[in-house]
Amino acid sequence: MSQRTKIKALLQSQQTEIDVTVKGWVRAFRSNRFIALNDGSTNNNIQVVVDFENTDPALLKRITVGAALSVQGKLIASLGKGQTVEVVANAIEILGDCDPETYPLQLKNRPSLEFLREKAHLRFRTNTFGAIFRVRNSLAFAVHQFFQERGFVYLHTPIITASDAEGAGETFHVTNFDLDNIPKTDTGEIDFKQDFFGRATNLTVSGQLEGELGAMALSDIYTFGPTFRAENSNTTRHLAEFWMIEPEVAFNDLVDNMDLAEDMLKYVIKYALNKNADDIEFLTQRLTEEEKTKPQNERSEMTLLEKLQFCLNNDFERLTYTEAIDILKESPPNKKKKFVYPVEGWGTDLQSEHERYLVEKHFKKPVILTDYPKEIKAFYMRQNDDGKTVRAMDILFPGIGEIVGGSQREERLDKLEQRMNEMGIPTEELWWYLDTRRFGSCPHAGFGLGFERLVLFVTGMGNIRDVIPFPRFPKNAEF
Ligand code: 4AD
Ligand code: MG
Repeated sequence: MSQRTKIKALLQSQQTEIDVTVKGWVRAFRSNRFIALNDGSTNNNIQVVVDFENTDPALLKRITVGAALSVQGKLIASLGKGQTVEVVANAIEILGDCDPETYPLQLKNRPSLEFLREKAHLRFRTNTFGAIFRVRNSLAFAVHQFFQERGFVYLHTPIITASDAEGAGETFHVTNFDLDNIPKTDTGEIDFKQDFFGRATNLTVSGQLEGELGAMALSDIYTFGPTFRAENSNTTRHLAEFWMIEPEVAFNDLVDNMDLAEDMLKYVIKYALNKNADDIEFLTQRLTEEEKTKPQNERSEMTLLEKLQFCLNNDFERLTYTEAIDILKESPPNKKKKFVYPVEGWGTDLQSEHERYLVEKHFKKPVILTDYPKEIKAFYMRQNDDGKTVRAMDILFPGIGEIVGGSQREERLDKLEQRMNEMGIPTEELWWYLDTRRFGSCPHAGFGLGFERLVLFVTGMGNIRDVIPFPRFPKNAEF
């Protein structure tokens, strides 16, 4: 049995006139002679040339779009246009037939992204999704490489917890109760003492709180795992299950935290640009074509590739929430009452229309907003001396809005307890978190990067459901 060579390697081969075995799925078969074969190692197909006059017609009939083939043949310099090498087949074996009558992905007229979402089990076989998931893979690898190069410890924080780190109450319950017969206490409440963990538990919304515990000894840690939110958001930016990267660093302040986040984002984007040049080129063309269907004023001024390079070559704009509110109050869309949520005063949360105005119209580059009002941020953020704001930071990206949320943490026990009491967060339940403030507390900071939002940005896709293999969102858990 000869070894399979991946198509990406074959297409780059310096050697010709060699025997090869290639395996993949048929993308096209024309003139009973030319098979375009793809194995997912690249979007480029290898052309397999069939000597149809000497091939069993029954076999030829089975070479249909989507069929899985194994081909033995000779790699030769191609005479035709469009490829430098091709494989002249000696033997073709059909590994798996694909009935053209029932195969959902007949790629003649390009299927819509919505259609492909319903066929998410097969959509990997299209060029668009092949490119997306190779880019996603590179970004994930680059995240690890970035932190590993800097001596961070990859910490695996739990998926099942008894806390709601963000305090937003958007958690999924975890239980092994018989749902038809839930044990109740004498007073009629659910008796979680009888549940699997002896208490109410949920899927984690963030690994941060446990991450902080690690950082209080290992100094520099990061998590990279799935997180879950039961918010009923049917937007192009929200998933119920998404992956988050959460570094946490002892002795860092907010400026260190911003520097780390900006360095990381640039590092991983640059990595993907180098590693996946072909795929990003393909996705750039895809986006340019998609934009042609929009009215001129809604089209982006830059191509995807230009946007990514622009992001690498420019410092992110850093300003406070208060400065941002001043800009927004005076902005033309606010004065002309074009915002759905008018910006009236200090203290309100920013809507994505405001974030996008700042990033896309005003600064025209990524923006880091800091020092938000404490009322709209989580309990663990370090309180500023003004008594009104906290050392928060959100990074806003063009076309995405918030991509990173983080802060310097409140390391002073009394201030932290006071804030938790104000916000009704039970200090007894979080005794272990507060212990780090009791024993050798120190300034520290961290952030969370929404991995799918990063993949959205780098691939130029418009819907977060298209950058995770099997999206979870309200009323959908297929596959
Ligand atoms: O801003 P968030 O809620 O921050 C935290 O969870 C902190 N504990 C992070 C930290 O400081 N360690 O979420 C962080 C990021 C957001 O900026 C966004 O990119 C992403 O996670 N995110 C989502 N991505 C997809 N779907 C959702 N429903 C998301 N919610 C947040
Ligand atoms: Mg946030």
